[in-house]
Amino acid sequence: MTDKLVIGNWKMHGRHAFNARLVEQLLSSEQVNRSGVALAVPAPYLVSVGELLQGSRLSLAAQDVSRFADDGAYTGEISAGMLADVGCAYVLVGHSERRQYLNEGGEQLRQKLLNAIAAGLTPVYCVGETLAEREAGRHLEVIRDQLSVLEGIDSDAMVVAYEPVWAIGTGRVASLEQIEEIHREIKAECLRRLTGSATILVLYGGSVKAENAMAILSVDNVDGALVGGASLVSESFSVICQAAKKLI
Ligand code: PGA
Repeated sequence: MTDKLVIGNWKMHGRHAFNARLVEQLLSSEQVNRSGVALAVPAPYLVSVGELLQGSRLSLAAQDVSRFADDGAYTGEISAGMLADVGCAYVLVGHSERRQYLNEGGEQLRQKLLNAIAAGLTPVYCVGETLAEREAGRHLEVIRDQLSVLEGIDSDAMVVAYEPVWAIGTGRVASLEQIEEIHREIKAECLRRLTGSATILVLYGGSVKAENAMAILSVDNVDGALVGGASLVSESFSVICQAAKKLI
């Protein structure tokens, strides 16, 4: 059985002192300091947090990657090769905040996925519907459309994170039935679209907390969690990691 994967998404939070304290607390927890746990930290701190994680079992993740494949004259961009070079194992691609605020989507995200895979990173492709789309009964259609960029991609490992936009940072969580339905659909769609025999993990994200982690992680086809707010508090993140470990 594959480990449940827990990724903490720090988003645009952190400073040297805060990061050092949080990582120290996380490393002292045996629930957290194990394989199958990763921290997605802001780009300026990848190197310093990577150094703090040296010798631990946690993995490093980036929150975004350039759509440009090769290094070159692309001011402000960070290539997949650079992320691999500083020790990242994972990279988030197409987080709903980037889709919303930076208009990311479609072909651009496909290119990012391809670049990540070519550099040896495991992409964590984020999908999710808005509240209006859910209320209009269009959620499955929206998710299928977002997954269409995976067509023909050949990768040993693919992680998809289902994060309903209306559940991110809002305290609202999708019901266990809603999560089950979408995760089943995502797995089937990935199997249809990806070539090769990729290991596919589908994470749930959106207001995952210490209190609801066990219930969510117990749902069929939930292979882990992408955790925002609660990943910045060591006690909460530790309880979530513990729930994931119990279920391995
Ligand atoms: P949240 O964020 O846990 O704070 O809702 C999840 C995410 O956006 O990855």
